[in-house]
Amino acid sequence: MKQFIDLLDKEKKTVIGLMSGTSADGVDVAVVDITGSGLDTEVSLIAFETIQYKPEIRARIFDLFSVETARVDEICTMNFEIGKIFAESVLAVLDKIGMATEQIDLIGSHGQTIHHLPLGEIPATLQIGEPAVIAHETGIPTIADFRVADVAAGGEGAPLIAYIDYMLFDNSTETIGLLNIGGISNLTVLPAGGSIDVIQASDTGPGNMILDACVEEMTHGEKQFDEDGKMAQQGTVCKSLLDVWLAHPYLELTPPKTTGREAFGKSYAENCLQQIKAHRISDYDGLATLTALTVESIADYVKRFVAPNSALDILYVSGGGAQNAFMMRCLAEAFYPVPVMDVGEKGISGDAKEAIAFAIFANEAVHGNYANVPNATGASCRKVLGKFVCP
Ligand SMILES: Nc1ncnc2c1ncn2[C@@H]1O[C@H](COP(=O)(O)OP(=O)(O)O)[C@@H](O)[C@H]1O
Ligand SMILES: [Mg+2]
Repeated sequence: MKQFIDLLDKEKKTVIGLMSGTSADGVDVAVVDITGSGLDTEVSLIAFETIQYKPEIRARIFDLFSVETARVDEICTMNFEIGKIFAESVLAVLDKIGMATEQIDLIGSHGQTIHHLPLGEIPATLQIGEPAVIAHETGIPTIADFRVADVAAGGEGAPLIAYIDYMLFDNSTETIGLLNIGGISNLTVLPAGGSIDVIQASDTGPGNMILDACVEEMTHGEKQFDEDGKMAQQGTVCKSLLDVWLAHPYLELTPPKTTGREAFGKSYAENCLQQIKAHRISDYDGLATLTALTVESIADYVKRFVAPNSALDILYVSGGGAQNAFMMRCLAEAFYPVPVMDVGEKGISGDAKEAIAFAIFANEAVHGNYANVPNATGASCRKVLGKFVCP
């Protein structure tokens, strides 16, 4: 049986990172080679795939997001079922690229967040996708549940990516912004010449989440998202509605802050749909306005919370939103003259970035390295992240 302890002396490890974000679109699987650890880590991507959730599974995950529809027996079952789906995703990708499980040293799995309550009376977050199932089904040592140690130490458990951004990007001469537009958008700012203690990172607000929900409703389930922003780009932004949406209390909060479906999920999207109807604007105008909400909330965040301390030299974008050509054009306009680029320009696949991150987090855990950024999460101290499961 493969043991964690055997990994310590291995010069190069082949690691799989697994991620499914708040969009719950599918399981991102990144197969990477990792050499070293800590700030000397070097990573190279061997393969990346997103294995889409089947519609029935996706619908059941969405039921778990909401306090009205989540049942405790279903949470219990889905924890194991999603673990199985994550394991099957690993096996499917390995089969596709002609690699055997024996060639993989380690898995790092983020799991599927179903609830995130960082500001509750007892702060809490819950990611499901049982790592014991992943380890058993694949025979590969698995590290999972990376957020909870940070929450236990008083942090929000997010955004965790700040540490990986600091590790992988060189901010010695430039102030770099790293924006990930998933269901929610998050931004890491690495000030020029700054150490890990001055990294600023936070969820800026909505990413694709509200857009996806509205597109699904407007197309009667035919489409899950606005591909390349083709629908939104046919519309015109309704300024008065945009101003209403930009007044959302989350956007006023001072960072560090994190959010999720609790604030911008189904009931918020239903509310937006009603407001689109009440303003008598077309679906396209509604989607243009929602795209503007994502873009403007990010730009406002930078103006209010980043610019007073450091001026961005460049903004790199990753996540599904980077695939939305219309959203990228709107971002470029909002940030002009600061260049806005797909993170792929830096040699890191924007789709794969988060899954790669969880492979690196697993490697950091093996080496006992602290991997949270208290300045970003609000934790009282640095923590080693992740729970270990032997196959
Ligand atoms: N070609 C595309 N055009 C527009 N939006 C896209 C495209 N590809 C992906 N997306 C958006 O990205 C989302 C998935 O992004 P992802 O980074 O996986 O988010 P998460 O981390 O929340 O799962 C999709 O739900 C969709 O809204
Ligand atoms: Mg996703």
